[in-house]
Amino acid sequence: MISIEDLRGAARRRLPRAVFEFFDGGAEDELTLRANQQAFQRIRLCPRVLIDVSSVDTQTDIIGKPSKLPIAVAPTGAVGFGWHGGDVAVAKAAAAFGIPYTLSTTATASIERVAREAGGRLWFQAYILKQREFTFKLIERACEAGYEALMITVDLAVGGKRERDLRNHFAIPFRFTPRNLRDFASKPGWALGMLRRGMPVMENLLGYTAQGTSGVMRAAALASSVGRNYDPTFDWDGLKAIRDAWPRKLILKGVARADDAQRAAALGCDALVVSNHGGRQLDGAAATLDALPAIVNAVNIPVFVDGGVRRGGDALKALALGAQAVMVGRATLYGACAAGEAGARRALEILKDELERSMRLCGVPDVRAHGPHPLSGGRG
Ligand SMILES: Cc1cc2nc3c(=O)[nH]c(=O)nc-3n(C[C@H](O)[C@H](O)[C@H](O)COP(=O)(O)O)c2cc1C
Repeated sequence: MISIEDLRGAARRRLPRAVFEFFDGGAEDELTLRANQQAFQRIRLCPRVLIDVSSVDTQTDIIGKPSKLPIAVAPTGAVGFGWHGGDVAVAKAAAAFGIPYTLSTTATASIERVAREAGGRLWFQAYILKQREFTFKLIERACEAGYEALMITVDLAVGGKRERDLRNHFAIPFRFTPRNLRDFASKPGWALGMLRRGMPVMENLLGYTAQGTSGVMRAAALASSVGRNYDPTFDWDGLKAIRDAWPRKLILKGVARADDAQRAAALGCDALVVSNHGGRQLDGAAATLDALPAIVNAVNIPVFVDGGVRRGGDALKALALGAQAVMVGRATLYGACAAGEAGARRALEILKDELERSMRLCGVPDVRAHGPHPLSGGRG
C-alpha cells in the first residue's frame, strides 16, 4: 500500500459494493466530489532551492495546541459498517500520529468510549437534531468527557441525494433484498465479521426519539433516516445558543463563503472548516480549495479545509493558500475499511511521508513558516 489510492482499492476489494460506495460516493452527478480533488491537482507549487532540508519540521499549531502534522481527522459517521470498531481504530491512529481526531455524532462508538479507549486530542462533531435538547445533551457529554473542541456541521440542513446509495438500496439497518444478499455474500470476510460481532449501532444516538415516531427509535434504524432528523430551522441564533453553552473551542464546519465566515467569527467561533462534506451534500458546490483564499482573507481566525486531500503534498498547497491545516475524511476511512487501525495508521504514514518529501523538494524546512495564514505572520 503505497498511496491512498491503493488503500481505496483494498477497501473496495474487502467491502460489499453497497458499503464501499456509501463511503466513496458523493451526491447526484458527483461534480463537487471530483472538483475537490481536481482543485488540488490543478494547483502547482513553485519550489525554493538551495535550502538546507536535511531535517524538516511538520509540527504546527492547531487551535492553540501542537499537532505533529498540519492534518486533523474529519468526522465520519457509520465507520463501524466498514470495520468493526473502526471509530476507535481511526482515533487511535490519530493519537499515535499526534494529530486531532473528530468524533461524529453518527459514529458507531460513543463519546465516552472513544475518550476512554483512544486518548489523544479529541474533538466532537455535533449535528443539530430536530430534538434540540438531545443535541445539547451530547454537547454536555462531550464536555464532561474532556473533548477539547466542539465542531458544528452546517452544510447538512437536509440529507444530500446520493444516487449510488439509492441504486444500491443502501440503508442502515441493511435492507436484505436479493441484490444486497448477493452483494454481501460476495465478501464473506466482511459478512462473517458482521454476523459474528453483530451490526454496529450509532451509540451516541441511543435513546433518540425520532420526529414523527412514537417511542424510542433504535439507533440503527435512525441511521437510515438521519438526514430527515436534522433540524432545517437551525440558524445563526441557534449557533449563538451553542456558543453560549460550550465553554471551549468552537469550530464551524461547512463554510463556503467569506460573508458567512465573517459572521461566524463575529459570533465567537474559534475556527472554521471550509468544507462541502466531501461532495456528499450540495452537488455543484464550489471546490473547497477554490473557496479557501477568499475566506482566509475575510477573517482573523484559523481556517481549515477538507475535501479531496489524497496526498501529503495537498497539505502544502492548502497551507500556501492560507489554511492552518487540512482535514481528511476518506483517506483514513479507506485505511480503516481495508485493515482497521493498521490501515488508518498506514494512511497517515503515507500522508506524513509524502508531506515531508514535498517539504524537502519545495525548500520548506519548517511547515509553520510556509503559507500566508495569520499564525505564520504572512511569510511563505
Ligand atoms: C462516509 C462519510 C461519512 C461522513 N460523515 C460525516 C459526519 O458524520 N459529520 C460530518 O460533519 N461530516 C461527515 N463527513 C464529511 C467529512 O467530515 C469531510 O468533510 C469529508 O469527508 C472531506 O472530504 P474527503 O473525504 O475527500 O477527505 C462524512 C464523509 C464521509 C465520506
